[in-house]
Amino acid sequence: MPRSRIAGIGKYVPSNVVTNQDLMQYMDTTDEWIQERTGIKERRYAHRTEETTTTMAVEAAKIAIERAGTTADDIDFIVFATLSPDYYFPGCGVMLQRAMKMKEIGALDVRNQCSGFLYALSVADQFIKTGMYKNILVVGSEKHSFGLDLSTRGRNISVIFGDGAGAVVLQPTEKEDQGILSTHLHSDGESAEILAMYNPGTHANHWGTHNYADFDDAPIANMFMSHAMIDKAQNFPYMDGQTVFKKAIVKFPEVILESLTANGYQSSDINMLIPHQANLRIAQFVQQKLHLSDEQVYNNIQHFGNTTAASVPLALCEAWEKGKIKEGDLVCLAAFGSGFTWASALIRW
Ligand code: UT7
Repeated sequence: MPRSRIAGIGKYVPSNVVTNQDLMQYMDTTDEWIQERTGIKERRYAHRTEETTTTMAVEAAKIAIERAGTTADDIDFIVFATLSPDYYFPGCGVMLQRAMKMKEIGALDVRNQCSGFLYALSVADQFIKTGMYKNILVVGSEKHSFGLDLSTRGRNISVIFGDGAGAVVLQPTEKEDQGILSTHLHSDGESAEILAMYNPGTHANHWGTHNYADFDDAPIANMFMSHAMIDKAQNFPYMDGQTVFKKAIVKFPEVILESLTANGYQSSDINMLIPHQANLRIAQFVQQKLHLSDEQVYNNIQHFGNTTAASVPLALCEAWEKGKIKEGDLVCLAAFGSGFTWASALIRW
């Protein structure tokens, strides 16, 4: 059975840089608080009307496709991970297919938030291994800036997130000891409401959400989004940051070690770990726990914030562009987030 390898990788970030000082115009926060608690100095916000989750993905995809030595015509499947789609439905996969004038290929959307890219990569990996497809475009893209509560009420979440996109082209390889060695996916829905955007949705508070909002007097056919929901900020993401943090620092090392053990390696064998860029403190904790040196871990949250599904391909691409990942290197990707879902992939580059 062939393995799949990352044949090309690309990234895109909007040109608009938003610093911590910029955010101080909107909310009660400080550069000091944000840097100390998250490591973030600045993030990018997409152009309000000219850039969408799909258009950013297209820019990253063009680079990945070119670097893979292929054309958009060669792509035979799309897997698109995002939590901030252009439309509630249809998903961004078809929007990308249209924007890139691709053939009438399959397009799948993955909704796994922070671990979305790793879930997408894993799905694509299975399709390559079975021989079903030969050139799969895997994308993670987010336009968070459009849906953040920039008032003081939302400051614990809004200062973290940024916009951007990353993409890879997966192809089969017959080379021994090259490509994706294994992927590992996990979930625990017990904490689904801990990090979530409740509305618009069909739950009608069935599960009990934080800061419950009623439907006004809306008739049944119009309960997707009510004034009360907006008044209670249920159209913005909610996060109990400390609970997420505590779980993340357990599950990150666990899923990284799982990938190493599955392939007979230990943490000292890792040439490069790309952790999902959720919080620099989480990444540093994981680094310490696994006894990794600074050269073995790549972080860029300082400049891009947390870009959810885009963060792993964005950091992987940047590390590769800087020459920090070379052929033959053992690269580990890992993510944890909303769901909770978490995942890892071990790759021989
Ligand atoms: O990628 C998805 C997965 N997400 C994560 O992995 C996020 C995990 N969690 C975190 O990264 C951290 O919990 C945060 C960065 C979100 C928050 O840091 P924290 O150290 O857990 O702070 P906290 O929420 O416990 O808040 C501490 C204080 C509070 O004030 P009081 O109650 O102590 O007076 C907050 O109101 O900091 C306050 N605060 C802020 N102050 C200034 C919260 N956000 C801000 C802010 N600026 N932006």
